[in-house]
Amino acid sequence: MGMIGGGDNAFIGSIHRMAAALSEKIELCAGVFSQDDEKSSNFGLSLGIESGRCYGSYKEMIVKESKLPKKRRIDFVSIVTPNHLHFEIAEFALSYGFHVFCEKPTSLSLNESLKLQQQLKQTELSFAVAHVYTAYPMVIEARNRLANNEIGKINKVVVDYSQGWLSPEYLDTEQKQASWRMSPERAGLSCCMADIGTHAVNIAEFILQQRVDCVLAELTFSNHRPLDDDGSVLLRFRHGAKGILTASQICVGEENNLTIRVYGDKGSIKWQQQTSGTLLLQQAKGPIQILTNGSDYLCDAALALSRTPPGHPQGFIEAFSNLYLLFYKQIVEGDKVDLLPQIEQGVAGLAFIEAVIESNKTGNRWVTLSA
Ligand SMILES: NC(=O)c1ccc[n+]([C@@H]2O[C@H](COP(=O)([O-])OP(=O)(O)OC[C@H]3O[C@@H](n4cnc5c(N)ncnc54)[C@H](O)[C@@H]3O)[C@@H](O)[C@H]2O)c1
Repeated sequence: MGMIGGGDNAFIGSIHRMAAALSEKIELCAGVFSQDDEKSSNFGLSLGIESGRCYGSYKEMIVKESKLPKKRRIDFVSIVTPNHLHFEIAEFALSYGFHVFCEKPTSLSLNESLKLQQQLKQTELSFAVAHVYTAYPMVIEARNRLANNEIGKINKVVVDYSQGWLSPEYLDTEQKQASWRMSPERAGLSCCMADIGTHAVNIAEFILQQRVDCVLAELTFSNHRPLDDDGSVLLRFRHGAKGILTASQICVGEENNLTIRVYGDKGSIKWQQQTSGTLLLQQAKGPIQILTNGSDYLCDAALALSRTPPGHPQGFIEAFSNLYLLFYKQIVEGDKVDLLPQIEQGVAGLAFIEAVIESNKTGNRWVTLSA
């Protein structure tokens, strides 16, 4: 793996490095960790990367690595920079024959993600998107229970991702993660909906195995911020289910409270990422069942991605590591791995963002997703 972004004090880069290492299949061999050449190099050396492979720019890394013998060069790049760089780096890496593991959103516009999808069609390369929540075993179990018709025909989905860290009253304005997220040039059309709303819609689509067809949104821009920091979205899924998605970064006191509830005509399921090792399942008139991570009654896919026995907590880093494992499997075996979020999910994320923005801007009306 060669990493782009994720330097000193970055948030998600170190999670990716730990996750890749935890897969026991992937080694970080090269990187460019900052726009500043010297900082990047020092940081790469501190991670134990050999000096000749701590690069000054992503172009230098990709071009030079492509010239190394196949056995020695990196197989893929992991893109963990702010949003505005995802598309250009991914496009460049693919054009040099490298697989790509990309943070979300995959680009600033739907058109760019569609271009990546076109580019990928001309190659045998793999492209993963870091929608980590669908790699939790109990989320995979939820998808399996729905596919087995255990809660019947789906009538309603309620998905909420609440955080409080961008509340203007409490925010340190110098905070690096906040400053680019509120910049339209670096974050794109949206802050909250792009940052966490895309995770919420992705987990709903993953569990239901249904795409969202249209949305009606109302967004909040606290203190006249240039981008949204909160929003509520009504959802209509392609096969008839209805839902509501709320995402907020100004819910004071909330940490990473992602919760999904799905109601069918026979029962319901509920999953919360802050208690990610359990899935609640209730059938009409039956008792609440608490299903737990690592238990032998789980489906094969959920069991295969459970890292610890029941009762021993596993979480965010292991879920990220599961994504890396699925990506590795796809690269090595060549067949599309169904559970891995790929460019289709990247495109879906951008289609969602653009539809939500349009709905909010045009008087909160229903907007059909483009892709
Ligand atoms: N999947 C998830 O759960 C999740 C969680 C957090 C963030 N993210 C995504 O990860 C990305 C990074 O977010 P973050 O919070 O870690 O940001 P961050 O600001 O903490 O880190 C970004 C890093 O990129 C580096 N960088 C910037 N320009 C660069 C360049 N030209 N070359 C090399 N490095 C460069 C910066 O120096 C910094 O180290 C965003 O796209 C965000 O949406 C995803």
